[in-house]
Amino acid sequence: LSTIEFDLTKVQQGQQVVIKWQGKPVFVRYRTPAEIERARADDHAGLKDPATDADRVKPGHQQYLVVLGSCTHLGCVPTFGAGDFGGWFCPCHGSHYDTSGRIRKGPAPKNLVVPTYDYVSDTRVKIG
Ligand code: FES
Repeated sequence: LSTIEFDLTKVQQGQQVVIKWQGKPVFVRYRTPAEIERARADDHAGLKDPATDADRVKPGHQQYLVVLGSCTHLGCVPTFGAGDFGGWFCPCHGSHYDTSGRIRKGPAPKNLVVPTYDYVSDTRVKIG
């Protein structure tokens, strides 16, 4: 399937759900206000792969972050909620991602990739 739909009511605040899209894991994370705040506070923190938090979410839906669950170093699956920036930590070679999925420390060169997706309703996204 080239596109899939996901019901956002299945993910709790402060958690993520991992879905499969084109054989790859996709993280759908429902961020807490503190996690969003933390990401925004670092928008201009000398990022390796510069992007604001707003660039990485859809307007009006900033609580939901949708990213490919594949480390941009060599493709391991990063661990949720771990690492120095509270986003994800890749155990393979030690890359730390923040709560916007941006690379902050370690060998990965790029932020976790935001796939093409859109809201089909307030509680439903279509990925792909
Ligand atoms: Fe993630 Fe190397 S694959 S740090």
